[in-house]
Amino acid sequence: MTLRYHEIAEARHRILNPLTEAKVDLLGEICGLTPGQRVLDLACGKGEMLARWAAAHGVRGVGVDISEVFVPAARSRAEELGVADRVRIERGEAAAFARDLAGDLAGGPGAREEPYDVVACVGATWIGGGLAGTLDLMRPAVRDDGLLVVGEVYWTEEPPAEAVESLRLGPGDCTSLPGTLDRCEEAGYELIEMLLADGDSWDRYAAAQWHTTSDWLRAHPEDPEADEIRRLLTTSRRDHLAYQRRYLGWGVFVLRAQDA
Ligand SMILES: C[S@@+](CC[C@H](N)C(=O)[O-])C[C@H]1O[C@@H](n2cnc3c(N)ncnc32)[C@H](O)[C@@H]1O
Repeated sequence: MTLRYHEIAEARHRILNPLTEAKVDLLGEICGLTPGQRVLDLACGKGEMLARWAAAHGVRGVGVDISEVFVPAARSRAEELGVADRVRIERGEAAAFARDLAGDLAGGPGAREEPYDVVACVGATWIGGGLAGTLDLMRPAVRDDGLLVVGEVYWTEEPPAEAVESLRLGPGDCTSLPGTLDRCEEAGYELIEMLLADGDSWDRYAAAQWHTTSDWLRAHPEDPEADEIRRLLTTSRRDHLAYQRRYLGWGVFVLRAQDA
């Protein structure tokens, strides 16, 4: 139901995270993308980052997402930006895709696949059971000196217990910015860049969802999912105002293997 809620709440969003379009573009520049490079985006949502990067930098890309709503939107966006010949969107479970790819890449010289120049997972580190597990999933897919781009939440200050509980984060799910650095380093990565959402764009990401969801509820009062969608709107709006906007930050971390 959480996925269904986001499919409804983010129907009018292009970027399904708190970064602005300008920051998604800046992230492509930070990564130093060049024409012909290959980018894999795990849990790509509506594919906005891949399509923009393909249009601006001439990269090729593969995006994987589980949502039957976001995947067609991603394909349409690639068409709209004139990059559908270079951006392939697959519907599937990202961890399974990454593991299959790793198996293929381990196949040696006869392998059908090549490692990617950049592997991203922006705002979906649950696919690997947390940051460390997701970095493990991503690692085989990237070339030795390639970049990993990970979007992740972090605590901006020590949260009270009720914030942790309300935001449904386990005690170890999220850490501070220095704690995030520790997790990256323990996984064998050097943090070489970072792009953080600010409070205003966090609010825009969240509050625009309230409007879209409220409109959906008015248009679908008899929908069998309406009660649950209303409950999720009510709790997520209150949680954002009470805790999320104060205690939780959101950023994208650019990593390279320490031994690269
Ligand atoms: C917060 S959104 C981020 C989307 C995109 N990376 C972006 O920043 O615009 C999380 C995405 O993860 C996708 N997702 C959730 N679980 C997934 C899974 N197990 N495998 C693939 N995609 C998944 C959702 O459909 C959604 O598009």
